[in-house]
Amino acid sequence: MALIELDHIGKCYDLGLSKVHALKDIHVSIETGELVAIVGQSGSGKSTLMNIVGCLDVPTSGRYHLSGRDVSELSDDELSDVRNLEIGFIFQSFQLLPRASALENVELPLIYRGISKKERRELAIAALEQVELADRMKHRPTELSGGQRQRVAIARALVTQPSLLLADEPTGNLDSRTGEEIVRLFLDLHSKGNTIVLVTHEPKLAARCPRAVRIVDGLVIADGPGREVALANAEAMGADVVAQVLAAEAAAASHRKGAFAP
Ligand SMILES: Nc1ncnc2c1ncn2[C@@H]1O[C@H](COP(=O)(O)OP(=O)(O)OP(=O)(O)O)[C@@H](O)[C@H]1O
Ligand SMILES: [Mg+2]
Repeated sequence: MALIELDHIGKCYDLGLSKVHALKDIHVSIETGELVAIVGQSGSGKSTLMNIVGCLDVPTSGRYHLSGRDVSELSDDELSDVRNLEIGFIFQSFQLLPRASALENVELPLIYRGISKKERRELAIAALEQVELADRMKHRPTELSGGQRQRVAIARALVTQPSLLLADEPTGNLDSRTGEEIVRLFLDLHSKGNTIVLVTHEPKLAARCPRAVRIVDGLVIADGPGREVALANAEAMGADVVAQVLAAEAAAASHRKGAFAP
């Protein structure tokens, strides 16, 4: 049984005088343990799809099964329970509490679950260790770099041990070097067994993921190895984007070589 089973999903926004068919007929399944990038141009429907996968919204047609449960017609309260139990979200803008320390930010989802203070602290420290930020846990978001803020947000998403991590443009607010660090962290979390779906409009990031799904005008037009799908998407965006994908790939390969060199 797939963790995510999207069966002919459609989403139509009814604006009174006009309708927007943001998703038309999405048919995708994702297994536990996969790392999948969703790519496509602005307005293609990536965030709309993530909102449905993340149970923030429901489709207007089709069926969505998450862990075998049909979640396509749940009420707002039921969706919120599914979100709290199953999903960790990571946003482009981090969405951390500015007055709280990194540790307090990561503890927050555990408070809603009624976990004791001592256990909260232990779990939050363990999550910060996973993103290599244990030495910054007393810092407030303003006292951290952009990449470190995003790592706090990733620790906050991990701390409840969700079945699924969802990230919408997690590197969108970061420079390319910091973005690269975050991509490496996602690859590392994937190798430890986490299931991750991330949206990016940067083919060079998608090319590093084992699988990518490309959306054009609300339809899946490619679903396969990240490199192939990302290069096809880059070609549609122009020769310079293809060059960026290849350059990023070469840089990642030389980083790996450097990391393992004696
Ligand atoms: N709440 C809404 N009401 C009406 N139309 C919407 C709403 N949200 C999104 N849309 C429309 O649905 C389409 C898909 O939007 P979506 O936000 O999913 O695109 P996206 O691929 O995430 O784009 P971007 O890369 O710019 O974030 C767009 O045409 C958008 O204008
Ligand atoms: Mg979007």
